Amino acid sequence: MAEMIRKSSVAEVINHWILAGSCMLLMLSGFAFLFHLEPVGSVFGGFESMKNVHNWLGVVFCISLLISMVHYLKDAFEYDADDVQWFKVAGGYLSHKVKVPPMGKYNPGQKLYYLAIVGAGIAIALSGFGIWLMKDNSTVMLLSHLVHNIAFLIFVLAVPVHIYLGTLANPGTFQIMVNGMMPLADARKKHPKWIKAIGRM
Ligand code: HEM
Repeated sequence: MAEMIRKSSVAEVINHWILAGSCMLLMLSGFAFLFHLEPVGSVFGGFESMKNVHNWLGVVFCISLLISMVHYLKDAFEYDADDVQWFKVAGGYLSHKVKVPPMGKYNPGQKLYYLAIVGAGIAIALSGFGIWLMKDNSTVMLLSHLVHNIAFLIFVLAVPVHIYLGTLANPGTFQIMVNGMMPLADARKKHPKWIKAIGRM
């Protein structure tokens, strides 16, 4: 059996499922509101109860997003010369001929993805609470709907790319989402600076 190493803690794995689950259900019900998708509405017991589920899932998503900040926010703001070089070669995704620089625990694409989720997450949450709780204020309602829709668009663009990169595009990565583990040999190749830093090179 290949020797494994823990990339995500149990707390990170559990919180990722809560973040991903609430986000996907929010996106599904959000789509159903936007395009008045009756079949989706009926799965939630009608549009009125879907609205309640959507609002409270928003609360769950917010709490999970705050917890994720404890896990990833510091890392997501730290970039070194190799990270800059990673951008220059587009992470090696566009050509096999370029040399991809050595990476730490997360590559800069993942860090930027996280910051996009935090930015769009804060915007969608604040505007969501505006729509939910400030129905009497027409300016807040108008602005909140605008911000809610723009932030939704960011999720619609970013999340499918993240899911593709975490599954089909990088076989084996999905296991990190399941139990937080990855093969040590893969980690040495993909994240040499992280492995060196924890003394497992
Ligand atoms: C259900 C579909 C999803 C799958 C299959 C998936 C898969 C993964 C995997 C495999 C990782 C570990 C990557 C690594 O450590 O190298 C990861 C990390 C992460 N995921 Fe997801 N994910 C999904 C949905 C989401 C959603 C909806 C969000 C946010 C709203 C999200 C946010 C994150 C964050 C913040 C990380 C950690 C840092 C990063 O990789 O940017 N994920 N995901």
